[in-house]
Amino acid sequence: MKIKNISVYLTEEQVEQRVRELGAEISAVYGEEPVCLICILKGSAFFTCELAKRITSPVELEFMSVSSYGAGTSSSGVVRIVNDLGTSIEGKNVLVIEDIIDSGRTLSYLLENLKTRNPKSLRLCTLLDKPERRVVQVDVDYVGFEIPDKFVVGYGLDYDQRYRNLPYIGFVEIEE
Ligand code: IMP
Ligand code: MG
Repeated sequence: MKIKNISVYLTEEQVEQRVRELGAEISAVYGEEPVCLICILKGSAFFTCELAKRITSPVELEFMSVSSYGAGTSSSGVVRIVNDLGTSIEGKNVLVIEDIIDSGRTLSYLLENLKTRNPKSLRLCTLLDKPERRVVQVDVDYVGFEIPDKFVVGYGLDYDQRYRNLPYIGFVEIEE
C-alpha cells in the first residue's frame, strides 16, 4: 500500500488550542496534588510533552511502550509490554496518556495491568477517539477530539513508523 495524499483534518492551531483546554481541565482536577503522567510510546510522545507543559499541578513523567502484535492499520488484541515503567505507581495519581483509542484493546489491557499496581487514582486521557471502532469498552476521562473511522497520521501518530513528526493531524489516502 502506498500513500497517495495526506489531507489536513486538524490544524496545528486546533490541536494546540485543544491541548491547552485539556491542560486547564486536568489542572483543575488535580490542583496541588502531584500527578504521574504515563506516556504510551511512541504515539503519544508529542501529545504528552505538549500537554505536560499546560498542566500546572506537580507533574512526574513516566514512559511505557506496548505493542499490539500485527502490522497494518489495526491492532490484534494481543498486547505486550515492551518497556515497563521504571518506577512504582503505588499510591500515586496516575494519568495515562494515549494518542488514539481505536478498538480499545490496548488500553483495556493496559489499564487492568496498571490497576493491579495500586495507584491512588487511575485516569485516562487520549488525544483522539474513534468511538465507532470500539470492540472493548474503555472508560476515557479526557478526550481531545472524537474522529470518524478513518486512518490518521501526525502529531505522534504513524503509518508504518512514518509521519509522526507532522505538526497537524491528517487523513491518509491510500493508493489502490
Ligand atoms: P486499539 O488497541 O485498537 O485501541 O489500538 C490503539 C493503537 O492503534 C493506537 O495506540 C495506535 O498506535 C494505533 N492506531 C489506531 N488507529 C490509528 C490511526 O488512525 N492512525 C495511527 N495509529 C492508529
Ligand atoms: Mg499507539
